[in-house]
Amino acid sequence: MTTLNIIGGGRVGKTLGHLFHAAHVFQVQGVLTRSQPGALQASGFIGAGMAHSRLADMPQADVWMLAVPDAQIATVAVALADLVGSQPRPAMAFHCSGALSSGELAPLHRLGWHVASAHCLLSFARPELALTQFANTPCALEGDVLAVPVLEAAFAQIGARCFTLSAEHKLLYHAGAVFATNFLPVLQDLAEQLWQHSGMPPELVLQLRERLLNNAVNNIVALGPQAALTGPAARGDQALVATQGLAVSRWNCDAGAAYQALSLLAGKMATRLPVS
Ligand SMILES: NC(=O)c1ccc[n+]([C@@H]2O[C@H](COP(=O)([O-])OP(=O)(O)OC[C@H]3O[C@@H](n4cnc5c(N)ncnc54)[C@H](OP(=O)(O)O)[C@@H]3O)[C@@H](O)[C@H]2O)c1
Repeated sequence: MTTLNIIGGGRVGKTLGHLFHAAHVFQVQGVLTRSQPGALQASGFIGAGMAHSRLADMPQADVWMLAVPDAQIATVAVALADLVGSQPRPAMAFHCSGALSSGELAPLHRLGWHVASAHCLLSFARPELALTQFANTPCALEGDVLAVPVLEAAFAQIGARCFTLSAEHKLLYHAGAVFATNFLPVLQDLAEQLWQHSGMPPELVLQLRERLLNNAVNNIVALGPQAALTGPAARGDQALVATQGLAVSRWNCDAGAAYQALSLLAGKMATRLPVS
């Protein structure tokens, strides 16, 4: 079986490691984080792999998955290239970032390694939850012509739906994911703060969280975003948008700026010709 080393045992490393191991896609060899307890916890969750906290102690492997935070990918790639520079058999490496391309792994590419990036479009909030949500998750692949088909087969075996992206589109592609998933909790938090500030009973705030979010999701899924849009900006009520924007700005200037920017986009979206 193809062997896998995992660098980074957080939400994505643990989830993908567990799935690859359980589906017998890869034989997990080593799991690395910067602390031994973290690595032990990750390998325990994955159900395979020796825990390590020093890169130099990692065994050899056919494939290396870098599931470290985006800001660490280039540093880890340099460290790995320094370590394996003399290794006779080049391997394959991929990272899991949605925004960054396989270019981050250039030091390994220069050694003859095949490199790629594989981004699963799922909010990995908690690994236990992500395991149950993973089936049919879209996975954006980008990189070497030899690495992409290997990853396509591996991710398909754990239930992902792979597609390819070019490196220059990754930043905007990932911005789409940020808008679709990361900003939703931010907007919900602002709404709940405003309701609490206005004196709404806390139990009602909690009730509204589920109710309004479910209604909004159902409407968007059934009608599409444009037809699901309601509210003052969509109605073209500029006077209310202006006074409400001012009130929100007085309460919190960042929230006021967001209100104004989103109202502008909502107004444009409401008057845009529908996409057939
Ligand atoms: N979370 C998501 O929803 C999501 C979705 C798709 C893709 N991604 C991508 O997946 C990657 C990992 O994200 P994540 O959310 O799993 O991050 P995370 O939960 O913060 O986990 C990062 C892991 O990397 C380890 N680490 C950090 N720096 C390291 C280093 N220099 N050497 C070795 N281990 C290191 C951390 O442990 P120590 O600090 O103990 O070393 C931790 O185990 C990122 O590229 C991210 O963009 C995330």
